Amino acid sequence: MENVFLNMLMGRQCERPPVWLMRQAGRVLPSYHALRQQYSFAELMSTPELAARVTLLPVRDLGVDAAILFSDILTVPTAMGMEIVWTERGPRFPHPLASYQHPLRHLDVNAGRLAYVYETIDRVVAESHVPLIGFCGAPLTTLCYMLQGNSTKATFPEAKKFFYEHPEETRQLVDAVTEVSIDYAMQQIAHGIDAFQLFESHAGLLPTEVYAELFLPAVCRITDAVRSAGIPLIFFPKGLASGLRLITPDICDFVSVDWQTSLAEARAMVHPEVGLQGNFDPHLLFAQRTDIAKAIDSCKPFFRQHPKWIANLGHGVLADTPVEKARFMVDYVKSANWTAK
Ligand code: CP3
Repeated sequence: MENVFLNMLMGRQCERPPVWLMRQAGRVLPSYHALRQQYSFAELMSTPELAARVTLLPVRDLGVDAAILFSDILTVPTAMGMEIVWTERGPRFPHPLASYQHPLRHLDVNAGRLAYVYETIDRVVAESHVPLIGFCGAPLTTLCYMLQGNSTKATFPEAKKFFYEHPEETRQLVDAVTEVSIDYAMQQIAHGIDAFQLFESHAGLLPTEVYAELFLPAVCRITDAVRSAGIPLIFFPKGLASGLRLITPDICDFVSVDWQTSLAEARAMVHPEVGLQGNFDPHLLFAQRTDIAKAIDSCKPFFRQHPKWIANLGHGVLADTPVEKARFMVDYVKSANWTAK
């Protein structure tokens, strides 16, 4: 399968950067809203036929170079026995782990609960030749939700308190989430994903040295397992800031840079063999087309100098983004001349 996204991940020279958008398979698309009139998010995600259909919507509607599995990072806590409720304001765990004396005793791992995800992958692979990105959350981000129970406080104060108050219990929880995540990733690979993205959306919650000591080794266990199976890996440590210096080829093939850090700064910090992905501000898609084009054009000298780059946003596409602007961004990246001076 000749595809610019896979070629880029394999380290081959490409005439243009590949392009896809984080959170592309969701509320930016009118076709997704139409399905949501009929089905809840939980129904869409857990019904393989529907989840496969949603996975492929952005390929048709936006023209992206890769599909990402329509699922959520919070499937892993459900495989660990946690009840989840999807509300209008986002996910909620009615029994957050931080409310228990001994949280581990309240977990009941059964990886078989994720069988619907693998059936979704089977369907996507059978229906389409577009590269498919599998994913899961990294342990810190997943544990933030498991401990806190919701994301209404973006700083996850209960989760953070727990990490400092109960370091030993934290280590055990990190181990438990890591085990399930590795099993989940390996199953996704067995069912045919082409690439894997590890979402550490809350890397910026902790001082870099605490993150490096407590969570990065677990990240490496997951990324090692995925890459040993021959699948290229993109790591998205949002908010890691100067901690990007820790990102070496032992950890990932590409690092997804958040919108706060410039590509040039990221390039100077990240090991030169690791490619970059990102990092347009999701709000750029509210700008005029000429300004979107200008922002993309301004990356041309960077791409000529550092050709290991995947065009993407610096976080997920926002729910109220005008879909025609998202489509414009994708079209512009695909049709621009990236090689001429
Ligand atoms: O990228 C894609 O389009 C594929 C599917 C995908 C979803 N969630 C579907 C979804 C992916 C890759 C995710 C990752 C995810 N989920 C992350 C990491 C990335 C990031 O944005 O930081 C996180 C932290 C979550 C947890 C989560 N899921 C939250 C906090 C919410 C509510 C807020 C929001 O962004 O919508 C969700 C819900 C969710 N996950 C929706 C979708 C399409 C919206 C559901 C709906 O109401 O239709």
